[in-house]
Amino acid sequence: MAKAKSVYTCTECGGQAPKWQGQCPHCEAWNTLIETAVEQGKGAGVNRFASLGGSGEVVSLGEVEARDFPRLPTLIGEFDRVLGVGMVEGGVVLIGGDPGIGKSTLLLQAAARLSEQVLVLYVTGEESAQQVALRARRLEVNASKIRLLPEIELEKVQATIAKLKPGVAVIDSIQTLYSSALTSAPGSVAQVRECAAQLTRVAKQSGTAIVFVGHVTKEGALAGPRVLEHMVDTVLYFEGDTHTSFRLIRAFKNRFGAVNEMGVFAMTEKGLREVTNPSALFLSHHRADVPGSCVMVTQEGTRPLLVELQALVDESHGPQPRRLTVGLEQNRLAMLLAVLHRHAGIALFDQDVFVNAVGGVRIAEPGADLAVTLAIVSSLRNRALPAKHVVFGEVGLAGEVRPVQRGQERLREAAKLGFTHAIIPAANKPRQNIDGIEVIAVDRLSDAVDYLK
Ligand code: TYD
Ligand code: MG
Repeated sequence: MAKAKSVYTCTECGGQAPKWQGQCPHCEAWNTLIETAVEQGKGAGVNRFASLGGSGEVVSLGEVEARDFPRLPTLIGEFDRVLGVGMVEGGVVLIGGDPGIGKSTLLLQAAARLSEQVLVLYVTGEESAQQVALRARRLEVNASKIRLLPEIELEKVQATIAKLKPGVAVIDSIQTLYSSALTSAPGSVAQVRECAAQLTRVAKQSGTAIVFVGHVTKEGALAGPRVLEHMVDTVLYFEGDTHTSFRLIRAFKNRFGAVNEMGVFAMTEKGLREVTNPSALFLSHHRADVPGSCVMVTQEGTRPLLVELQALVDESHGPQPRRLTVGLEQNRLAMLLAVLHRHAGIALFDQDVFVNAVGGVRIAEPGADLAVTLAIVSSLRNRALPAKHVVFGEVGLAGEVRPVQRGQERLREAAKLGFTHAIIPAANKPRQNIDGIEVIAVDRLSDAVDYLK
């Protein structure tokens, strides 16, 4: 009998079964068995996710030479910013995003720049060589040095990397690759995991920096429920509204740099162009002050960013008032409405509330709280905030306004963009005045709301 090449492993308990079945025979969990390759050789299974170090001997940390990893800058400033000064030798980067958002475009642009410095292998599983060539022509980049491999079989990709020893390899996309050791279809959790694990091992052993392109499925998870995130060194996500030309790329995990860094691009006919001063992007330009609008300063990594928040409060006719957010957290909105009621006496139980962050940006930090509440009160009372005012601050459940990180930098950015007043937490009030901006410090939410009388 031929030896089986794959077994089914339970994602809950790690138990194995020779055939797929609905229930794990070991822990009796349902639908947890996924196909995995049988490892050859003793102990191979232990070393599936080879690490950067790897010799396996005990050393004292003091004796380990702390050296910086050699960097390979892509020379696309906004991309390097999120990577943390470029790629790292042997580092593995995952770039996720919706289909059509610009992942292949960015990587081809980066590959063209990188190919001036090192050998770059571009593995394309989704598009033909002609399509990639067409894109390169459209982007007007010098892609002649890029080595292109239209291939979807993992073993052939591995062999090519071993033979060419490229400095950088781009896998576009990880979901199209399949390993012949498994019978599951390409794109399945088992295949994505196996291919990524094998290639990660190749990267660590050969020093080739590898970039995986990964599509995000409808549920917002990378196909194979985020199975890749823990394997790779850096996880970047492409965000942005496909209806506008702006694209944000954000670092969610980075073993070689800071997280929460954000790169901003604009999609043009000639590919992605860097936007070095993005603050102006997320402000809509009203001719007059309008109720329901409030500009906030958010901090993305090392960079402050001005974003306009809009709220609309309207009489509700359903049994349940609606609370909808775009670009902000929905649960946070429910919480802020409760705080508004209890600590500022503003009831919205018979009103629908909609909140939107302009420009397709997503804000996850609580520093948006104060701006969200002021936008809501402004819409409810039909009173606009005075012109040239910015707002930031977290709102606590006790109705207090809490400080945020890097208040000074936020104020300076606002002053730079011509704002004259800032409503901010008292604890963020700078000791020295910042030129051009007057600080209105508030301690409690009710004080801030009074500003809209
Ligand atoms: P693409 O990089 O193929 O997306 P992904 O790899 O993330 O699926 O980008 C596709 C979109 O970008 C497509 O709708 C066309 C647009 N585009 C431009 O607007 N300008 C360009 O120069 C290029 C190459 C693409
Ligand atoms: Mg693509």
